[in-house]
Amino acid sequence: MTHPRLARPQWWHDAVVYQIYPRSFADAHGDGLGDIPGITSRVGYLSALGVDAVWLSPFYPSQLADGGYDVDDYRDVDPRLGSLEEFDEMVAALHAAGIGVIVDLVPNHSSNRHAWFRAALAASPGSPERARYLFRDGADGGALPPNDWESLFGGSAWTPAGDGQWYLHLFAPEQPDLNWDNPEVRADFEHTLRFWSDRGVDGFRIDVAHGLVKNLAEPWPPQKEMEDWPRPDGSHPLWDRDELMNVYRSWRRVFDSYDPPRFAVAEAAVHPSRRARYASPETLGQAFNFAMQEADWRPDDFHRVIDAALSDVADTGSSTTWLLGCHDSPRVASRYGLPLIPEPRVFADLKGERPFRHDSQWLARQWLLTDGRAPEVDLPLGRRRARAAVLVEFALPGCTYVYQGDELGLPEVADLPREVLQDPMAGRSTREKGRDGCRVPLPWASDRHALGGNSFGFGSDGAHLPQPDWFGDFAVDVQEADPTSSLAMYRQALELRASLTATPPGEFEWVAGPSGLLHFRRGAWHCLTNFTDEPLPRPEGEVLLCSAPEGAAGGVPANATVWLRSE
Ligand code: BGC
Repeated sequence: MTHPRLARPQWWHDAVVYQIYPRSFADAHGDGLGDIPGITSRVGYLSALGVDAVWLSPFYPSQLADGGYDVDDYRDVDPRLGSLEEFDEMVAALHAAGIGVIVDLVPNHSSNRHAWFRAALAASPGSPERARYLFRDGADGGALPPNDWESLFGGSAWTPAGDGQWYLHLFAPEQPDLNWDNPEVRADFEHTLRFWSDRGVDGFRIDVAHGLVKNLAEPWPPQKEMEDWPRPDGSHPLWDRDELMNVYRSWRRVFDSYDPPRFAVAEAAVHPSRRARYASPETLGQAFNFAMQEADWRPDDFHRVIDAALSDVADTGSSTTWLLGCHDSPRVASRYGLPLIPEPRVFADLKGERPFRHDSQWLARQWLLTDGRAPEVDLPLGRRRARAAVLVEFALPGCTYVYQGDELGLPEVADLPREVLQDPMAGRSTREKGRDGCRVPLPWASDRHALGGNSFGFGSDGAHLPQPDWFGDFAVDVQEADPTSSLAMYRQALELRASLTATPPGEFEWVAGPSGLLHFRRGAWHCLTNFTDEPLPRPEGEVLLCSAPEGAAGGVPANATVWLRSE
């Protein structure tokens, strides 16, 4: 029987979803890699945290050329991470706890070890096997790539097949792009959607949802023109094509053939005016809004991002999403500890980059990804702000995604030695050290040798990325014993949120206040955030929760959020 929490129609509209990066969550097999039984063993933790669903980054067979986003077989579990039976056991355990399961679907590209791609390489140009991918004749008799397009991970977007043809990969060479004009490709992905839905999966996170359908008609625009992105009109040859919606409309028919209907959330890096197309009830149902993750620690930024997201919702009838971090971005606790740029535009002008990324958070990302040039991070401040920011998200209408470890206030491991880096981004450009710093296996125990594994309780045989000594200070067991910890605050917040939203709270409304304070209410539930370094006065009312360990007796503490009940 479906758990009542998941039986509610469109429960995901206002869910709190916890993102699990399976290789780094918990290792039950004892081989240094997190796995499916590891997740099952931690259902109690997820349940105590109070999340409504988990989203699992890829766990499929993969050579891990891109952390599993290079899939060898879409309908199986990587044997190093478990088996289909263990997957079923995990789903059953999560469902019994009232926790939904969302899996990651990677439709833009397979891996180069997928049976289809091996067959394509073995077949000749013009064959049906090659027609599942995007092969083109090379220039100069096949010696050179067909054009100058670049991969998002650096280098050419084309790799030679060895017979004069080249294949397109917008990411790593191990990730050949599929040909979505081919009906066989479309049918196969519908098969995959049914395969996991039949196993009880509740939803899908669609990787690079704005890719898939492409227009490779010649003449090809040069790389310089391709960088004109995002566009408001669907005119880019590779991204956000109008035809893409036919794919998602047919997926919707698959989703709606289940009871309860499945849903999907699009990772669509598109022009904000185009996001609604992905989130529509006729297509995927929901789309990530990354704006909060890129907002600076400034009340105006938060205000602007929230207004824009809520007006998106009015357009689609879907719910918005809030998130502060994921497996692709530097840890929020470190980002908020970086100095603010007083005049964000100065940097924009200096770099001549796209204006919508031109703020301190964008710069922070560069810093944290830049090898050896990280500035001072004020970590206590960053962690304090991260706690305040997540209480803003939890108080807003819509769905919030929490990245594993952010509930612990875990900082970025910004100084991983280059030789241990796994991310294909690392080293492909002079600037980027990649995304491994937020993917280091979680510390469950403060004792490095717990479980005999030299991995802070992650498993019994090490961790696939090295954990620094200070990881123990952030461990789950330390935070469980400390009522003022970040974990304790998350648990309290989610319990309160569940009770405050059990009956729909009042309409969202902004409330005017002193400069530096962001204040909104939903009926009697008020959320006040102080973005300054001094306490600010607050209205009368019952304090429900305060993000700062010292409490809200003296007003709204500096860099903190207070939830208040007040009529
Ligand atoms: C995923 C990344 C991945 C890329 C290619 C992104 O959207 O989140 O982790 O590298 O897609 O699949």
